[in-house]
Amino acid sequence: MRAITYSRYGGPDVLELTDQPIPKVGADSVLVRVRAASVNPVDGYVRAGYLDGAMDVGFPAIPGWDVAGVVERVGLDTPELQVGDEVFGYVRKDWVHGGTFAEYVSAPVRTLARKPASLSFEEAAGVPLAGLTAYQSIRRAGVQAGQTVLVHAAAGGVGSFAVQIAAALGARVLGTASSANHEYLRGLGAEPVEYGDGLVERVRALAPEGVDVILHYGGTEAIATAPALLADGGTIASILDAAARDELGGHYVWVRPSTQDLEALAALADDGRLKVEIAQVFELADTAAAHEASATGHVRGKVVVRI
Ligand SMILES: NC(=O)c1ccc[n+]([C@@H]2O[C@H](COP(=O)([O-])OP(=O)(O)OC[C@H]3O[C@@H](n4cnc5c(N)ncnc54)[C@H](OP(=O)(O)O)[C@@H]3O)[C@@H](O)[C@H]2O)c1
Repeated sequence: MRAITYSRYGGPDVLELTDQPIPKVGADSVLVRVRAASVNPVDGYVRAGYLDGAMDVGFPAIPGWDVAGVVERVGLDTPELQVGDEVFGYVRKDWVHGGTFAEYVSAPVRTLARKPASLSFEEAAGVPLAGLTAYQSIRRAGVQAGQTVLVHAAAGGVGSFAVQIAAALGARVLGTASSANHEYLRGLGAEPVEYGDGLVERVRALAPEGVDVILHYGGTEAIATAPALLADGGTIASILDAAARDELGGHYVWVRPSTQDLEALAALADDGRLKVEIAQVFELADTAAAHEASATGHVRGKVVVRI
């Protein structure tokens, strides 16, 4: 099969299009014919070797954890899925080797769910990692109807989903982004706030009593400004800085694969309450350019690779 691989850590230039064997399929896995994969910032960190202390790597490694595609073959015991089923998933395994930027990926069924019918393969591939991160951090923070929630980096992959999920729960949502993304945020259901100097005053002007929940998905000021922005009894969840838990008594979240949570996201999408903004679509051979686009740190929504 055609796959993107890298044989040493480095920048996007280590990625090359190569021929690889079709992956083996374990008893609790299925072989997915990949129709689309999406890029997450973590793909760049893994490729650069920043996660070397946490995950073993088998070179040549195929990068990528997000997928949407069609079940091509099933394992020995996978009653959940049949050949021909359309699926999407966050296919993170415990080591780095057989990822999703390839024609096929072997995926444990616990990492997959049925693709929402209302989304294209490209849109569905944009959901898993970022959508699960948003969903799981919102659950951890206990967001409820009527609360005011401040989403940092609201226009990014995770933030775009979090704004919509929190709004669907009945929360009032404030979101930080540069001014170029303010109309976009309004369309998602958030009141936009410019990040940078004066953030506390701008948020306070919108929420004089403070906010009930801060969701930290980007920017460096979220931890330092949280005490000045949280209402009494409020909490913070961060996916970037354990200080949110260790110093502020909130939460630190590292996204986990979950069929059940993917099903909840699929239901929101099929209800029309979760839209997927695609910033750019690349061909498989151009995956390095897709990684470069993600690394700018200013993607609106998701960068997708079509296979
Ligand atoms: N712990 C976990 O499980 C987990 C899971 C997923 C992601 N992450 C991490 O969380 C971060 C966000 O992920 P992502 O996929 O959402 O990334 P992303 O899509 O690349 O985020 C890009 C967004 O960040 C915004 N941004 C940049 N600088 C900002 C600032 N100073 N303040 C507020 N917003 C800012 C940009 O908005 P403008 O263009 O308007 O500046 C852009 O919309 C990444 O570092 C990622 O590695 C962690």
